[in-house]
Amino acid sequence: MSTTGKQLFTTLESNGTLTVAIEDVTFPDPVGNQVLVKMEAAPINPSDLAILTGAADLENAEYSPGKYVATMPEPFNAGSKARHGLKLPAGNEGAGTVVATGEGDKAKALMGQRVACVPGNAFSQYCIADAGMCLPLGDYSSEEGASGFVNPMTALGFAENAKMDGQDAILHTVGASNLGQMLTRICKEDGIGLVNIVRKEQQVELLKGIGASHVVNSSDEDFTKNLRAAIDETDAFYGFDPIGGGKSVDRVFKAMEQVAVTKMTEYSRYGSTQQKRMFIYGRLDVSPTVLSPSYGFGWTLSGWLLFPFLQSVGMETMGRMRKRVLDNLTTTFASHYKKRVDLEEMLTKDAVMDYRAMKTGEKYLVTPWK
Ligand SMILES: NC(=O)c1ccc[n+]([C@@H]2O[C@H](COP(=O)([O-])OP(=O)(O)OC[C@H]3O[C@@H](n4cnc5c(N)ncnc54)[C@H](OP(=O)(O)O)[C@@H]3O)[C@@H](O)[C@H]2O)c1
Repeated sequence: MSTTGKQLFTTLESNGTLTVAIEDVTFPDPVGNQVLVKMEAAPINPSDLAILTGAADLENAEYSPGKYVATMPEPFNAGSKARHGLKLPAGNEGAGTVVATGEGDKAKALMGQRVACVPGNAFSQYCIADAGMCLPLGDYSSEEGASGFVNPMTALGFAENAKMDGQDAILHTVGASNLGQMLTRICKEDGIGLVNIVRKEQQVELLKGIGASHVVNSSDEDFTKNLRAAIDETDAFYGFDPIGGGKSVDRVFKAMEQVAVTKMTEYSRYGSTQQKRMFIYGRLDVSPTVLSPSYGFGWTLSGWLLFPFLQSVGMETMGRMRKRVLDNLTTTFASHYKKRVDLEEMLTKDAVMDYRAMKTGEKYLVTPWK
Protein backbone atom coordinates (compact mmCIF):
# COMPACT_ATOMS: atom_id res chain seq x y z
CA MET A 1 0.00 0.00 0.00
CA SER A 2 1.57 3.31 -0.99
CA THR A 3 0.41 6.64 0.41
CA THR A 4 0.48 9.88 -1.54
CA GLY A 5 0.27 13.44 -0.26
CA LYS A 6 1.76 16.92 -0.39
CA GLN A 7 5.13 17.86 1.05
CA LEU A 8 7.19 21.05 1.12
CA PHE A 9 10.78 21.18 -0.17
CA THR A 10 13.40 23.95 -0.13
CA THR A 11 16.25 24.12 -2.66
CA LEU A 12 19.11 26.62 -2.91
CA GLU A 13 21.03 26.65 -6.20
CA SER A 14 24.67 27.78 -6.45
CA ASN A 15 23.54 30.96 -8.27
CA GLY A 16 21.58 32.01 -5.14
CA THR A 17 18.08 31.01 -6.34
CA LEU A 18 16.00 29.75 -3.42
CA THR A 19 12.91 27.74 -4.38
CA VAL A 20 10.41 26.68 -1.74
CA ALA A 21 7.60 24.60 -3.20
CA ILE A 22 4.99 21.96 -2.47
CA GLU A 23 5.20 18.70 -4.38
CA ASP A 24 3.11 15.54 -4.62
CA VAL A 25 5.02 12.72 -2.98
CA THR A 26 4.61 8.97 -2.58
CA PHE A 27 5.51 8.03 0.99
CA PRO A 28 7.13 4.62 1.55
CA ASP A 29 5.55 2.00 3.77
CA PRO A 30 7.02 2.10 7.30
CA VAL A 31 9.40 -0.75 8.15
CA GLY A 32 10.74 -2.11 11.46
CA ASN A 33 10.09 0.42 14.19
CA GLN A 34 8.97 3.16 11.82
CA VAL A 35 5.46 4.60 11.81
CA LEU A 36 3.61 6.57 9.15
CA VAL A 37 2.04 9.66 10.72
CA LYS A 38 -0.77 11.64 9.10
CA MET A 39 0.44 15.11 10.12
CA GLU A 40 -2.12 17.47 11.63
CA ALA A 41 -0.06 20.34 13.06
CA ALA A 42 3.54 21.59 12.84
CA PRO A 43 5.00 24.86 14.19
CA ILE A 44 7.23 27.12 12.09
CA ASN A 45 10.23 27.56 14.40
CA PRO A 46 13.28 29.82 13.87
CA SER A 47 15.39 26.72 13.07
CA ASP A 48 12.96 25.88 10.22
CA LEU A 49 13.25 29.44 8.92
CA ALA A 50 17.01 28.96 8.59
CA ILE A 51 16.36 26.77 5.51
CA LEU A 52 12.97 28.16 4.44
CA THR A 53 13.88 31.82 4.27
CA GLY A 54 17.37 32.46 5.68
CA ALA A 55 18.52 35.90 4.57
CA ALA A 56 16.70 35.63 1.18
CA ASP A 57 15.09 38.71 -0.38
CA LEU A 58 11.46 37.74 0.20
CA GLU A 59 10.06 41.20 -0.43
CA ASN A 60 10.98 40.86 -4.12
CA ALA A 61 10.44 37.12 -4.47
CA GLU A 62 8.09 35.58 -7.10
CA TYR A 63 5.06 34.07 -5.44
CA SER A 64 2.74 31.60 -7.21
CA PRO A 65 0.30 29.04 -5.75
CA GLY A 66 2.28 26.59 -3.61
CA LYS A 67 5.66 28.12 -4.44
CA TYR A 68 8.03 31.05 -4.04
CA VAL A 69 11.33 31.75 -5.73
CA ALA A 70 13.70 34.25 -4.09
CA THR A 71 17.31 35.36 -4.30
CA MET A 72 19.77 34.61 -1.51
CA PRO A 73 22.22 37.53 -1.26
CA GLU A 74 25.95 37.18 -0.70
CA PRO A 75 27.73 36.36 1.55
CA PHE A 76 24.83 34.15 2.74
CA ASN A 77 24.63 32.22 -0.54
CA ALA A 78 28.34 31.36 -0.57
CA GLY A 79 28.10 30.53 3.15
CA SER A 80 25.44 27.90 2.30
CA LYS A 81 27.60 26.11 -0.27
CA ALA A 82 27.09 22.73 1.40
CA ARG A 83 23.36 22.78 0.54
CA HIS A 84 23.65 24.00 -3.05
CA GLY A 85 21.52 21.83 -5.32
CA LEU A 86 20.05 19.77 -2.46
CA LYS A 87 16.26 19.49 -2.30
CA LEU A 88 15.63 19.54 1.45
CA PRO A 89 12.45 18.67 3.36
CA ALA A 90 11.55 21.07 6.20
CA GLY A 91 9.69 21.12 9.51
CA ASN A 92 11.57 19.74 12.48
CA GLU A 93 8.60 18.71 14.57
CA GLY A 94 4.85 18.25 14.60
CA ALA A 95 2.02 15.97 15.61
CA GLY A 96 -0.54 13.75 13.97
CA THR A 97 -2.08 10.26 13.95
CA VAL A 98 -0.26 7.01 13.27
CA VAL A 99 -1.96 5.42 10.24
CA ALA A 100 0.47 2.59 9.43
CA THR A 101 3.40 0.90 11.19
CA GLY A 102 6.36 -1.35 10.54
CA GLU A 103 6.47 -4.84 11.99
CA GLY A 104 8.43 -3.80 15.13
CA ASP A 105 6.61 -4.05 18.50
CA LYS A 106 7.28 -0.41 19.44
CA ALA A 107 5.78 0.75 16.18
CA LYS A 108 2.75 -1.57 16.30
CA ALA A 109 1.90 -0.32 19.81
CA LEU A 110 1.40 3.18 18.37
CA MET A 111 -1.14 2.24 15.66
CA GLY A 112 -4.07 4.67 15.67
CA GLN A 113 -2.53 6.90 18.38
CA ARG A 114 -1.98 10.63 18.24
CA VAL A 115 1.76 11.32 18.63
CA ALA A 116 4.24 14.20 18.64
CA CYS A 117 7.27 13.45 16.48
CA VAL A 118 10.50 14.95 15.12
CA PRO A 119 10.61 13.70 11.51
CA GLY A 120 12.48 16.62 9.90
CA ASN A 121 9.82 16.86 7.17
CA ALA A 122 6.85 17.93 9.30
CA PHE A 123 5.62 20.44 6.66
CA SER A 124 3.95 17.55 4.92
CA GLN A 125 0.67 15.62 4.92
CA TYR A 126 2.46 12.42 5.97
CA CYS A 127 5.78 11.65 7.66
CA ILE A 128 7.78 8.56 8.44
CA ALA A 129 8.95 8.73 12.07
CA ASP A 130 10.93 6.53 14.41
CA ALA A 131 8.57 5.01 17.01
CA GLY A 132 11.16 5.42 19.77
CA MET A 133 11.18 9.18 19.22
CA CYS A 134 7.38 9.52 19.11
CA LEU A 135 5.57 10.89 22.16
CA PRO A 136 2.06 9.40 22.50
CA LEU A 137 -0.23 12.36 23.24
CA GLY A 138 -3.11 10.56 24.94
CA ASP A 139 -5.96 13.06 25.31
CA TYR A 140 -3.92 16.05 24.12
CA SER A 141 -4.81 17.37 20.66
CA SER A 142 -2.27 17.46 17.82
CA GLU A 143 -2.20 21.25 18.14
CA GLU A 144 -1.32 20.96 21.84
CA GLY A 145 1.41 18.44 21.06
CA ALA A 146 2.84 19.99 17.89
CA SER A 147 5.57 21.97 19.72
CA GLY A 148 6.10 19.27 22.33
CA PHE A 149 9.70 18.49 21.55
CA VAL A 150 12.12 21.18 20.34
CA ASN A 151 11.48 24.12 22.66
CA PRO A 152 10.35 22.15 25.75
CA MET A 153 13.34 19.80 25.65
CA THR A 154 15.74 22.68 24.97
CA ALA A 155 14.44 24.81 27.84
CA LEU A 156 14.54 21.77 30.13
CA GLY A 157 18.00 20.96 28.75
CA PHE A 158 19.26 24.36 29.90
CA ALA A 159 18.01 23.68 33.44
CA GLU A 160 19.52 20.16 33.38
CA ASN A 161 22.82 21.50 32.06
CA ALA A 162 22.94 24.18 34.76
CA LYS A 163 22.32 21.60 37.48
CA MET A 164 24.99 19.29 36.02
CA ASP A 165 27.43 22.23 36.08
CA GLY A 166 26.60 23.07 39.70
CA GLN A 167 24.85 26.36 38.86
CA ASP A 168 21.96 27.81 40.88
CA ALA A 169 21.09 30.53 38.38
CA ILE A 170 20.80 31.10 34.63
CA LEU A 171 20.89 34.21 32.47
CA HIS A 172 18.82 34.18 29.25
CA THR A 173 19.18 36.91 26.65
CA VAL A 174 15.80 36.56 24.86
CA GLY A 175 13.46 36.04 27.79
CA ALA A 176 10.10 36.50 26.05
CA SER A 177 10.51 33.96 23.23
CA ASN A 178 8.33 30.85 23.27
CA LEU A 179 11.32 28.95 24.69
CA GLY A 180 12.14 31.77 27.13
CA GLN A 181 8.67 31.65 28.63
CA MET A 182 9.03 27.89 29.17
CA LEU A 183 12.42 28.43 30.80
CA THR A 184 10.89 31.05 33.09
CA ARG A 185 8.25 28.58 34.31
CA ILE A 186 10.81 25.74 34.70
CA CYS A 187 13.20 27.90 36.75
CA LYS A 188 10.35 29.01 38.99
CA GLU A 189 9.22 25.41 39.54
CA ASP A 190 12.79 24.19 40.20
CA GLY A 191 13.98 27.09 42.36
CA ILE A 192 16.66 28.11 39.84
CA GLY A 193 17.49 31.84 39.75
CA LEU A 194 16.84 33.41 36.34
CA VAL A 195 17.85 36.74 34.80
CA ASN A 196 15.77 37.44 31.69
CA ILE A 197 16.85 40.07 29.18
CA VAL A 198 14.12 41.47 26.88
CA ARG A 199 13.96 44.45 24.52
CA LYS A 200 10.43 45.81 24.95
CA GLU A 201 8.38 46.97 27.92
CA GLN A 202 5.44 44.66 27.07
CA GLN A 203 7.86 41.73 27.27
CA VAL A 204 8.77 42.77 30.82
CA GLU A 205 5.06 42.68 31.69
CA LEU A 206 4.57 39.34 29.93
CA LEU A 207 7.37 37.65 31.90
CA LYS A 208 6.39 39.23 35.22
CA GLY A 209 2.88 37.91 34.53
CA ILE A 210 4.20 34.33 34.48
CA GLY A 211 6.23 34.77 37.64
CA ALA A 212 9.66 36.03 36.49
CA SER A 213 11.51 37.91 39.20
CA HIS A 214 14.48 39.46 37.35
CA VAL A 215 13.61 40.95 33.96
CA VAL A 216 15.84 43.66 32.47
CA ASN A 217 14.93 45.64 29.37
CA SER A 218 17.83 46.37 27.00
CA SER A 219 15.94 49.42 25.67
CA ASP A 220 16.04 51.12 29.10
CA GLU A 221 18.61 53.86 29.68
CA ASP A 222 19.86 52.17 32.83
CA PHE A 223 19.94 48.69 31.28
CA THR A 224 23.59 47.98 32.15
CA LYS A 225 23.10 49.05 35.75
CA ASN A 226 19.93 46.93 36.04
CA LEU A 227 21.67 43.94 34.44
CA ARG A 228 24.53 44.17 36.92
CA ALA A 229 22.07 44.39 39.82
CA ALA A 230 20.17 41.30 38.59
CA ILE A 231 23.39 39.29 38.18
CA ASP A 232 24.55 40.41 41.61
CA GLU A 233 21.28 39.35 43.25
CA THR A 234 21.08 35.95 41.54
CA ASP A 235 24.76 35.03 41.02
CA ALA A 236 23.94 34.21 37.39
CA PHE A 237 27.35 33.78 35.81
CA TYR A 238 26.05 31.14 33.40
CA GLY A 239 23.75 31.83 30.48
CA PHE A 240 22.20 31.04 27.12
CA ASP A 241 21.99 33.32 24.09
CA PRO A 242 19.96 32.69 20.90
CA ILE A 243 20.91 36.01 19.25
CA GLY A 244 24.45 34.99 18.36
CA GLY A 245 25.39 38.04 16.29
CA GLY A 246 26.53 41.46 17.49
CA LYS A 247 27.34 42.27 21.09
CA SER A 248 24.68 40.30 22.91
CA VAL A 249 27.13 37.93 24.62
CA ASP A 250 29.79 40.60 24.98
CA ARG A 251 27.62 42.89 27.07
CA VAL A 252 26.59 40.00 29.31
CA PHE A 253 30.19 38.93 29.95
CA LYS A 254 31.12 42.56 30.68
CA ALA A 255 28.32 42.93 33.20
CA MET A 256 29.23 39.58 34.82
CA GLU A 257 32.85 40.65 35.20
CA GLN A 258 31.89 44.06 36.56
CA VAL A 259 29.82 42.33 39.25
CA ALA A 260 32.61 39.84 39.98
CA VAL A 261 35.19 42.62 40.36
CA THR A 262 33.11 44.35 43.05
CA LYS A 263 33.36 41.15 45.11
CA MET A 264 37.18 40.89 44.93
CA THR A 265 38.97 41.47 48.18
CA GLU A 266 42.34 42.01 46.49
CA TYR A 267 43.15 43.86 43.25
CA SER A 268 44.44 41.79 40.30
CA ARG A 269 45.55 43.23 36.97
CA TYR A 270 44.08 40.09 35.33
CA GLY A 271 40.56 40.79 36.55
CA SER A 272 38.36 38.46 38.60
CA THR A 273 38.75 34.70 38.94
CA GLN A 274 34.97 34.26 38.66
CA GLN A 275 34.15 31.63 36.02
CA LYS A 276 31.64 32.99 33.50
CA ARG A 277 30.06 30.76 30.87
CA MET A 278 27.75 31.55 27.96
CA PHE A 279 26.29 29.25 25.31
CA ILE A 280 25.15 30.53 21.92
CA TYR A 281 22.20 28.37 20.86
CA GLY A 282 20.62 30.32 17.98
CA ARG A 283 21.27 32.86 15.21
CA LEU A 284 18.45 35.38 15.49
CA ASP A 285 21.07 37.93 14.42
CA VAL A 286 23.19 36.57 11.57
CA SER A 287 25.87 39.28 11.81
CA PRO A 288 29.30 38.32 13.22
CA THR A 289 29.62 37.71 16.95
CA VAL A 290 31.56 40.62 18.47
CA LEU A 291 33.69 39.99 21.55
CA SER A 292 35.92 42.56 23.24
CA PRO A 293 37.43 40.35 25.91
CA SER A 294 37.66 42.62 28.89
CA TYR A 295 36.08 40.13 31.21
CA GLY A 296 39.09 38.78 33.10
CA PHE A 297 40.31 35.39 31.96
CA GLY A 298 37.69 33.08 33.46
CA TRP A 299 35.20 33.05 30.61
CA THR A 300 34.02 30.36 28.21
CA LEU A 301 31.79 30.69 25.17
CA SER A 302 30.48 27.63 23.36
CA GLY A 303 27.60 26.45 21.21
CA TRP A 304 24.58 24.48 22.43
CA LEU A 305 22.40 22.18 20.33
CA LEU A 306 19.56 19.98 21.56
CA PHE A 307 20.31 16.66 19.85
CA PRO A 308 23.99 16.34 20.89
CA PHE A 309 22.93 17.37 24.40
CA LEU A 310 20.29 14.61 24.52
CA GLN A 311 22.81 12.08 23.24
CA SER A 312 25.24 13.14 25.97
CA VAL A 313 22.76 12.74 28.84
CA GLY A 314 21.49 9.31 27.77
CA MET A 315 18.10 7.59 27.55
CA GLU A 316 17.20 7.68 31.25
CA THR A 317 17.51 11.47 31.60
CA MET A 318 15.85 11.97 28.23
CA GLY A 319 12.94 9.74 29.30
CA ARG A 320 12.53 11.73 32.53
CA MET A 321 12.57 15.01 30.58
CA ARG A 322 9.99 13.74 28.07
CA LYS A 323 7.69 12.59 30.87
CA ARG A 324 7.87 16.02 32.51
CA VAL A 325 7.00 17.65 29.17
CA LEU A 326 4.05 15.33 28.59
CA ASP A 327 2.72 15.80 32.13
CA ASN A 328 2.82 19.60 31.74
CA LEU A 329 2.19 20.07 28.01
CA THR A 330 -0.55 22.69 28.32
CA THR A 331 0.95 24.55 31.31
CA THR A 332 4.75 24.81 31.73
CA PHE A 333 5.37 23.84 28.10
CA ALA A 334 2.38 25.45 26.38
CA SER A 335 2.90 27.12 23.00
CA HIS A 336 0.58 29.68 21.42
CA TYR A 337 0.08 30.51 17.75
CA LYS A 338 -0.81 33.67 15.92
CA LYS A 339 -2.20 31.90 12.87
CA ARG A 340 -2.93 28.50 11.35
CA VAL A 341 -2.08 28.00 7.66
CA ASP A 342 -2.19 25.07 5.27
CA LEU A 343 0.81 24.25 3.06
CA GLU A 344 -0.27 26.60 0.25
CA GLU A 345 -1.16 29.51 2.55
CA MET A 346 2.22 29.06 4.21
CA LEU A 347 3.92 30.07 0.94
CA THR A 348 1.96 33.29 0.29
CA LYS A 349 3.79 36.59 0.58
CA ASP A 350 1.66 37.86 3.48
CA ALA A 351 2.34 34.75 5.54
CA VAL A 352 6.06 34.51 4.72
CA MET A 353 6.77 38.17 5.51
CA ASP A 354 4.88 37.83 8.78
CA TYR A 355 6.39 34.63 10.22
CA ARG A 356 9.94 35.33 9.11
CA ALA A 357 9.89 38.40 11.45
CA MET A 358 9.99 35.91 14.41
CA LYS A 359 8.17 38.30 16.74
CA THR A 360 7.23 37.44 20.31
CA GLY A 361 3.95 35.49 20.43
CA GLU A 362 3.57 35.42 16.62
CA LYS A 363 4.46 31.82 15.79
CA TYR A 364 2.58 30.14 12.91
CA LEU A 365 1.16 26.61 12.96
CA VAL A 366 0.98 24.59 9.75
CA THR A 367 -2.17 22.46 9.55
CA PRO A 368 -1.70 20.55 6.27
CA TRP A 369 -5.24 19.19 6.05
CA LYS A 370 -7.07 22.42 6.89
N1 LIG B 1 20.13 25.18 19.80
C1 LIG B 1 19.01 24.51 19.90
O1 LIG B 1 19.02 23.27 20.05
C2 LIG B 1 17.69 25.25 19.83
C3 LIG B 1 16.52 24.56 20.13
C4 LIG B 1 15.31 25.29 20.15
C5 LIG B 1 15.30 26.64 19.83
N2 LIG B 1 16.49 27.24 19.50
C6 LIG B 1 16.54 28.69 19.21
O2 LIG B 1 15.81 29.37 20.22
C7 LIG B 1 15.45 30.63 19.74
C8 LIG B 1 14.04 30.95 20.19
O3 LIG B 1 13.11 30.08 19.55
P1 LIG B 1 11.55 30.29 19.80
O4 LIG B 1 10.82 29.28 19.03
O5 LIG B 1 11.31 30.37 21.27
O6 LIG B 1 11.34 31.75 19.17
P2 LIG B 1 10.00 32.61 18.96
O7 LIG B 1 8.97 32.26 19.95
O8 LIG B 1 9.68 32.53 17.52
O9 LIG B 1 10.47 34.07 19.33
C9 LIG B 1 11.55 34.71 18.74
C10 LIG B 1 12.02 35.72 19.77
O10 LIG B 1 13.24 36.27 19.34
C11 LIG B 1 13.22 37.67 19.48
N3 LIG B 1 14.12 38.19 18.46
C12 LIG B 1 14.03 38.01 17.12
N4 LIG B 1 15.10 38.55 16.51
C13 LIG B 1 15.88 39.07 17.50
C14 LIG B 1 17.11 39.78 17.52
N5 LIG B 1 17.77 40.04 16.38
N6 LIG B 1 17.60 40.19 18.70
C15 LIG B 1 16.94 39.92 19.86
N7 LIG B 1 15.78 39.26 19.92
C16 LIG B 1 15.25 38.84 18.73
C17 LIG B 1 11.76 38.07 19.33
O11 LIG B 1 11.54 39.26 20.06
P3 LIG B 1 10.81 40.58 19.41
O12 LIG B 1 9.32 40.32 19.50
O13 LIG B 1 11.29 41.68 20.28
O14 LIG B 1 11.28 40.66 17.98
C18 LIG B 1 11.06 36.87 19.99
O15 LIG B 1 10.94 37.05 21.39
C19 LIG B 1 15.65 30.59 18.23
O16 LIG B 1 16.83 31.27 17.91
C20 LIG B 1 15.82 29.11 17.96
O17 LIG B 1 16.59 28.85 16.80
C21 LIG B 1 17.67 26.57 19.49
